[in-house]
Amino acid sequence: MLNKLFNKSKIGKHSMEVKESLKNDECLPYHIAIIMDGNGRWAKKRAMPRIAGHHEGMQTVRKITRIADDIGIKVLTLYAFSTENWKRPKSEVEYLMSLPQMFLNSFMPELMERNIRVEMIGDKEGLPSNTKSALNEAMEKTKNNTGLILNFAMNYGSRAEIVNAMKDIMIEVNNGNLTLEEVDEKTIDQYLLTSKLPEPDLLIRTSGEVRLSNFMLWQLAYTEFWFTDVLWPDFDKETFMEAIQAYQQRNRRYGGLKGE
Ligand code: FPP
Repeated sequence: MLNKLFNKSKIGKHSMEVKESLKNDECLPYHIAIIMDGNGRWAKKRAMPRIAGHHEGMQTVRKITRIADDIGIKVLTLYAFSTENWKRPKSEVEYLMSLPQMFLNSFMPELMERNIRVEMIGDKEGLPSNTKSALNEAMEKTKNNTGLILNFAMNYGSRAEIVNAMKDIMIEVNNGNLTLEEVDEKTIDQYLLTSKLPEPDLLIRTSGEVRLSNFMLWQLAYTEFWFTDVLWPDFDKETFMEAIQAYQQRNRRYGGLKGE
C-alpha cells in the first residue's frame, strides 16, 4: 500500500492511488508541524561533522516537502532553528544560517513548478542579512502561489512569541483600541505569528526526544502528537506515511465525547 501511495505520475496533484489509500480527504491532516531532530547524532554515527548531518537534514526537507505536496497537505511547518540554538558553536550556527539560502537557491524552480508558497515564523530581524534576504526573496517570489504552504520556523521561540503578542495586545488596550473584556482566545490567536495559519493537526518529532522545546506551545493545544526514534536525515516516505496513518486512527474529541 505504501508503494501505491507514492506512485505519483504528476507533480502536486492527488493520484488515484493516493485518493484510494487515504480513506477520505477529511482524514488527511491539513497542517503538519515537524520538530526535525537528530541531525547531529546521524552524523556522529558516521564519524562525520555535525554540519554533515544538517546538510543531510536539508535533503530530507526537500524530500518531505515533495511528499507533503504530492499527497495534498496544505501547510507544512518545519522547526529549523530555535531561539535557543544560538547557544551552539559559532561554526554550526553559521552553517545552519546558510541552509535557507542553499535550499531556496536550488529548490526555487521546483517550488514554483509545484505552486508552493514559502512562509516563515520567528524573529526575522535577528537573522543574519543573507539568511533574511534569502527568506524574504523566496516569500516574495512565491507569494501568489496557492498550493502547499512551506512554513519555516527560523529563530523561533514560542514563549517569546506569546510575550510579544501580550505586549501588542496591551498596547492596543492602552491606546483604547481594545478593551480588556474583548481580549479572548481569538484575540491572542490574531496576535501570534501564526495568525494566518490554522493550528497544526499533527506534530511529528524525530530522534526519540519527547518534548516540545518551546515550539508552538499555544497552537498545539489540540494537536495530535507522533514521535519516532528515526533520526531526521533518515526520515523517509514510509515513516511519514506511518505518522499520517497513525493520525488517521486517532479520535479527535477536542475535550468533547467520543463520536460527537
Ligand atoms: C536538531 O538536530 C536540528 C536542528 C537544530 C536543525 C534542523 C535543520 C534542518 C533539518 C535543516 C533545515 C533546512 C532548511 C532548508 C532551513 P540536532 O542537531 O540537535 O541533532 P542531535 O540532537 O542529534 O545533536
